[in-house]
Amino acid sequence: MKIAVLTSGGDAPGMNACVRAVVRSAINYGFEAYGVFDGYKGLVEGKIKRMERNDVGQILNRGGTILGSSRLESFKEKEVRQIAVNNLKALEIENLICIGGDGTFRGAMALNEMGIKCIGIPGTIDNDIACTEFTIGFFTALDTAIDAIDKLRDTSFSHQRCTVVEVMGRNCGDLSIFSGIATGAEIVITKDTGYNEADILKQVQKAESMGKRHLIVVVAEHITDVKILAEKIQENSGYEARATVLGYIQRGGTPSAFDRVLASKMGVHAVELLSEGKGGYAVYTKSLDVGHIEFDKALIQENKPSDLYKYLSKLN
Ligand code: F6P
Repeated sequence: MKIAVLTSGGDAPGMNACVRAVVRSAINYGFEAYGVFDGYKGLVEGKIKRMERNDVGQILNRGGTILGSSRLESFKEKEVRQIAVNNLKALEIENLICIGGDGTFRGAMALNEMGIKCIGIPGTIDNDIACTEFTIGFFTALDTAIDAIDKLRDTSFSHQRCTVVEVMGRNCGDLSIFSGIATGAEIVITKDTGYNEADILKQVQKAESMGKRHLIVVVAEHITDVKILAEKIQENSGYEARATVLGYIQRGGTPSAFDRVLASKMGVHAVELLSEGKGGYAVYTKSLDVGHIEFDKALIQENKPSDLYKYLSKLN
């Protein structure tokens, strides 16, 4: 029994923690573990190596992915995927865990239909996979964006400026709205809010009339050119304006506590599914709902027992 693991698409902090969890728990479940290097491209090129417990030591806290990643447009073609399937079959690998975003999931689904049992694990800073509340890497990227915006606020305040900052996320506004809330941004523009320049300028002017010394405007990528928006704001208000594109810095860095634990749990869960002979699934988490309950009921409830200990035994 063999399981291979790959990372694909944009790298995300926590991917290494997930690879570690997959390799270690696969071995603990009696599988041979394999790593595929450089995503689907490496799978097609046959870059597949046996991995032992120690090969994934010292990586839990590292950003990026030790397996490497890629985007392979031609993986949509059946003939290209067939080469990948043949490479796996030549090594008698019947199970594959694919860590990545929606493109990765589509590749995994197609391979699953071609006879390799596949499980998808959501790993992307964009948080743009609908089935899961959070993806591996999102909260670390969020921390990075927040740290950068906090720093921009320092200089923005000092110079009485309006800072327009572009945040990543592909077509999803989550990194923008979460970082906007967490940094107290005055204006957040995403696909969900829509882009209405006149309205944005009105909001800026209103903030100015309220006596705000400086302003932070967070804009999700692919919405508009932040440099041009900053120029428009400067022309139509009393603020000097500057634009900053945060860019790829958001993809790097050591994974947060949340991402390490989520990645570890998801990795173990994916292996458990394969150990039960189940393929064709995407792993998800749903957890952070906010609700309310009367005090008396809140206080008579016992603490929920944690199930984390059951993961711990599979991770060493
Ligand atoms: O999916 C992660 C992401 O960083 C997006 O936020 C961004 O739009 C895209 O990848 C950039 O892709 P690439 O690495 O191909 O330039």
